[in-house]
Amino acid sequence: THIEWDVDAAEKGGYEHFMLKEMYEQPKAITDTFSPRLKGSEIVIDELNMTDEEIQAIRKIMIVACGSAYHAGVTGKYVFEGMARIPVEVDLASEFRYRDPIMEEGTLVIVISQSGETADSLAALRESKERGAKVLGIVNVVGSSIAREADNVMYTWAGPEIAVATTKAYSSQLIALYLLAIKFGKVKGVVSKEQVYSYIEDLKRLPEQVEMLLNNKVKIQKFANRYLAAHEVFFIGRGIDYAISMEGSLKLKEISYIHSEAYAAGELKHGTISLIEEGTLVAAVLTQKELYKKMISNMVEVSTRGAFVLAVTNEGNDEVERAADYVIYIPETNKFFANSLAIIPLQLFSYYISVGRGCDVDKPRNLAKSVTVE
Ligand code: AGP
Repeated sequence: THIEWDVDAAEKGGYEHFMLKEMYEQPKAITDTFSPRLKGSEIVIDELNMTDEEIQAIRKIMIVACGSAYHAGVTGKYVFEGMARIPVEVDLASEFRYRDPIMEEGTLVIVISQSGETADSLAALRESKERGAKVLGIVNVVGSSIAREADNVMYTWAGPEIAVATTKAYSSQLIALYLLAIKFGKVKGVVSKEQVYSYIEDLKRLPEQVEMLLNNKVKIQKFANRYLAAHEVFFIGRGIDYAISMEGSLKLKEISYIHSEAYAAGELKHGTISLIEEGTLVAAVLTQKELYKKMISNMVEVSTRGAFVLAVTNEGNDEVERAADYVIYIPETNKFFANSLAIIPLQLFSYYISVGRGCDVDKPRNLAKSVTVE
């Protein structure tokens, strides 16, 4: 017998694209990133190489990265500040050097990179070291330049990522940031033992919750098919949901070539709302209970101007249905981890738009997996 052997198809493990395969690997990437760092009811990050005194001495964190890794950093800002009460600045690596950053004693620089080879991120790392800051790399590719040059490196154990659009590496970067924030908060005495325990329980639930959301793919595919001809899409959110809106918007534009923008929902009235026309798709993310009301009023503002509103919100927030045309519910977790769930339907939406438009999902035009020029 003669067996047809297609290496490409074999590598995709039965999935149509690497991106889909990698989205489905997210529950594992998340587990593999947190489980080696859980010791009973404690978080142990040996590779940090920092004593409790050194952690207590952190006065400021500066997160530097590009693209999706930068978006993970924006989420990180809300998590470090909200959970561990440490001030955070987040910078695009390509901008970092040109603002003459102030790095006083007690500044920890965190460089986030999947490839570990992004030229701007590497340059920012070198600049930070020259200025005397301690640099922690959150990196996926073992032995890459950023991993080698950082003072310490915390690996995201997502495994090789082939699709240009990052999914599982991004998801594991969020986990690494959560672990650090819990650890720092605990050492600084602002997160109690009970809270650590409850965060760990929530972490352990994430892989299954992500899996559940992935299994919703047919529903999202049907919805995406209605928007294949869209000219532009807006993603809105407040607080930590604004961070996920940025990532949702980048996913869509990079693989579908549909213009999209992320907006802090409160900024709409300051200009962007003039772009809303009959039928414009607005994806609203609202996972923060204290912001539901404000978000719903923003959704009403756009829908009365003709927008079609897709909402991504927590189970139980039925009130949203009066302001949304279509709702995707995500399971309950704590407010700091909700981004890990909200991103899943947005990834699936971008993926199916890209497939439906016949784009090259895994290798979008003009883009490279790692950007090694500044
Ligand atoms: C994400 O989907 C992009 N392809 C891109 O923004 C990427 O996140 C960015 O280039 C940073 O890459 P890195 O994580 O390898 O440094």
